[in-house]
Amino acid sequence: MTYGQSGFLGHIDQADLLQLVAGGRLGQAYTTAFDAGDESFHFFFVESDGVGAAIGQGRRFTRIPRADLNGPTEWLNHVPARPTGPNEQACTACHALPMDDGGGGIAHNVTRDPLRLGDPTQYIERQTTHLFGSGALQRVAEELTATLHALRDAAEAEACASGLPVTKALVAKGISYGSLVATPSTSGPCTVVLDTSGVIGVSADLVVRPFGWKGDTPTMRQFCRNASNNEIGMQGVELVGQGVDGDFDGVSDELGVGDVTGMVIYVTGQPRPLSNLELDRWSLIDPLTPEDKRAIRSGRQLFEASGCAVCHVPSLTLDDPIFREPSLNPAFRDAVLPAGQDPLVEGLDPNFAVRYDLTRDLPDNVIVDPNTGQVIVRLGNFKKNASGQALVELFGDLKRHDMGAGLAEQIDEIGTGASVFMTENLWGVGSTAPYLHDGRATTLEQAILLHGGEAQAARDAFAALPTPARADVTAFLANLVLAKIE
Ligand code: HEC
Ligand code: HEC
Repeated sequence: MTYGQSGFLGHIDQADLLQLVAGGRLGQAYTTAFDAGDESFHFFFVESDGVGAAIGQGRRFTRIPRADLNGPTEWLNHVPARPTGPNEQACTACHALPMDDGGGGIAHNVTRDPLRLGDPTQYIERQTTHLFGSGALQRVAEELTATLHALRDAAEAEACASGLPVTKALVAKGISYGSLVATPSTSGPCTVVLDTSGVIGVSADLVVRPFGWKGDTPTMRQFCRNASNNEIGMQGVELVGQGVDGDFDGVSDELGVGDVTGMVIYVTGQPRPLSNLELDRWSLIDPLTPEDKRAIRSGRQLFEASGCAVCHVPSLTLDDPIFREPSLNPAFRDAVLPAGQDPLVEGLDPNFAVRYDLTRDLPDNVIVDPNTGQVIVRLGNFKKNASGQALVELFGDLKRHDMGAGLAEQIDEIGTGASVFMTENLWGVGSTAPYLHDGRATTLEQAILLHGGEAQAARDAFAALPTPARADVTAFLANLVLAKIE
């Protein structure tokens, strides 16, 4: 991490990235963006950068939402409307456990006041998630969405062709998102009315949103520009507009379009999580004992037998492992930037995207033979199966579930139900205590026992296991780790 005394010098221009891509220098565009994102993710921004915001009372940061500070330039009147913070000076201040780009402890939970009432009984609190493997998460969501949209379009076409209502099961990569009914008009040119009341686990627009505990954010770009504003008070030009000082700290144009692209490429370019079994295989940890290995293998079986894998799906495949910013899929890029700019005019052109291969180009965890200098294995990359698909071993289904009254929040933040959360991907879970959306569980066993709602039966199956078998399940989960190997 870098504590600045003077301002940030690592800004990049989207125009330069565009020029590199257009000139065929794809590798250089990727490294330029990644390195810039690496710098901005780790930089502790200062006043001259416009970090923080004019909260009121002369303050720049707050860990507690301050809707009570409602003067013309104070917390309540920042543009865009702020639900939290600014909480910190740098992304890395929170995403640092047990290592860089990881999660955060309780002290780095974020308190949000989505209703902006200044009433602590209506606040929600969220735990910091790790960022490993996140490029693959967006790509999986893009492919799931493409399939769901193709099914919807097919239902519409079949309804018009037959003149009869068509019911379509929405299954993508083996995950069921319920069904929809397409009913054609009875006269005139065919129009279709869609009944999406049978759609489950995803919004009615059938866009799978892979980020956030509630699964509410489709793209890394949206997450990064909002986190920049909400968490550290660095307002992007694409969020507030050129020359606009929406947080009244005397600085405008705090982050350019290229800066946000850099952040996106850096965060999505984080390595895939690993397992202790795999690290053991490459002799990168103290050897596991035969008993360790038995417990992990038995725990994995019990995990499946208890019904955990219904939601925490061990592995999904990716047909196309190329991450692109901006995406080729219109649901995963901005039609218009939040401040109203045309993305094409700003240099965000899907035909000239900064791109890289998740199975080839991830820079971390390259294991080199110390004697020969030869690369032994690139553990950061996603593995491929025999048909050339990338394996994304996320232990999740990118689907929202009702987890029961016990886990409900004070308010229903996004209108999907206060007790509804996206299945938390369990890759890396052995490195990211505490657990659950607000960090209320300090052990894996406790996190499991707090499951309710749709997960009640699986939770009860786990609870009914003899103590040693429960220990095997948690040994299996503890084996799913984050690692950055020097
Ligand atoms: C004050 C602590 C804090 C800071 C600073 C912070 N984050 Fe986060 N981050 C969080 C929390 C808490 C969540 C979970 C939010 C939620 O789901 O409601 C999160 C989630 C994320 C996610 C979603 C990951 C996923 O898989 O769902 C991304 C991406 C992310 N942060 C990127 C950033 C970037 C980029 C920055 C710097 C601009 C940043 N964060 C700064 C606390 C922080
Ligand atoms: C109905 C879907 C579903 C089933 C079945 C399910 N889970 Fe979960 N799991 C979730 C959701 C959703 C969350 C996030 C809940 C929250 O944060 O409040 C979660 C969170 C977790 C966490 C905490 C992860 C973290 O990083 O905080 C663990 C550990 C976990 N589940 C393990 C299990 C085990 C073991 C089983 C089987 C006994 C199981 N789950 C069954 C949906 C499910």
